[in-house]
Amino acid sequence: MNQPIASLRRLRSVELRTTACADSADFYTNVWGLRAVEQGDGQAWLRGTGQEHHVLQLTEADRNGLGRITFAVATPAEVDEAARRLEARNIPILAGPGPTGEISAGYGVSFVDHEGRVIQLLADALAVPALRQEEPVPVGVTHVVLNTVDIDASVAFYSDVLGMRVSDWSEHQMAFLRCNSDHHSIAFNQAEWASVNHVAYEMPTVDQFMRGIGRLRHNKILPLWGPGRHGPGDNTFSYFADPAGLVCEYTSGVAQVDEDRWLCRVWRRVPELSDTWGTAGPPSADVRSHMAGVPDAGAFDRHPELMGVAR
Ligand SMILES: [Fe+2]
Repeated sequence: MNQPIASLRRLRSVELRTTACADSADFYTNVWGLRAVEQGDGQAWLRGTGQEHHVLQLTEADRNGLGRITFAVATPAEVDEAARRLEARNIPILAGPGPTGEISAGYGVSFVDHEGRVIQLLADALAVPALRQEEPVPVGVTHVVLNTVDIDASVAFYSDVLGMRVSDWSEHQMAFLRCNSDHHSIAFNQAEWASVNHVAYEMPTVDQFMRGIGRLRHNKILPLWGPGRHGPGDNTFSYFADPAGLVCEYTSGVAQVDEDRWLCRVWRRVPELSDTWGTAGPPSADVRSHMAGVPDAGAFDRHPELMGVAR
């Protein structure tokens, strides 16, 4: 069997294509707690308090969607090896391997998954100092949930190609995948179409998580769902809609996996397991609709010749 193409260290950043780039950049900086690194015409790069150059990139587009997910790998040599293994698997490469020439610099390769999502592996990005911050603001991006039309194919791709491990299932509806000790960096949700379900931002403590929700309330923005605590992953959650209608989450306290001892479980989708504090109640039709988003063919929209390329 083929080896995974690389050993992912962690989730670095997410690019969202958004119909409201300027308003969303305002929201994520003035309300959500990120800080602008660079802002241009129809683009913005935002950071948290952690050591990533940026954690969220916004790109103006005519429809909401996922632009790209970037993972860290250890070295440029690993990026080169990943590119060789992608070619061997006939997985389409969009850029690299090589210096990215992008704002965070580094050495990377970008490729397309089976549903058109663009994934970048990036080494040697620019260093930035961690920020000290009294305000309740996110450290960075901690997970992305993706809607998929075929959850088994998605789990197979991210396990076989990217070496991720399934931490837990929520029945056969959601699968939580890890690349380090965090319970999940990616999760898939079985859905009617592929799209981004939500992006989650890590708050350092439950206190900061709650104070963050308070700051949004002062800005007259109430949660679509939450606050609450999930069973799978044990993390707190509170979901909001950004100005384009994309869903963002404050979270804290995600379970840490001991690789040698962890056993994947299947969680029944009942209130006492999906809302362990009993504070959130069931998700409303409104939050479900925001999380479903609009159909997003990703790179297949812009490069239709890549659809159906053999894996
Ligand atoms: Fe989440």
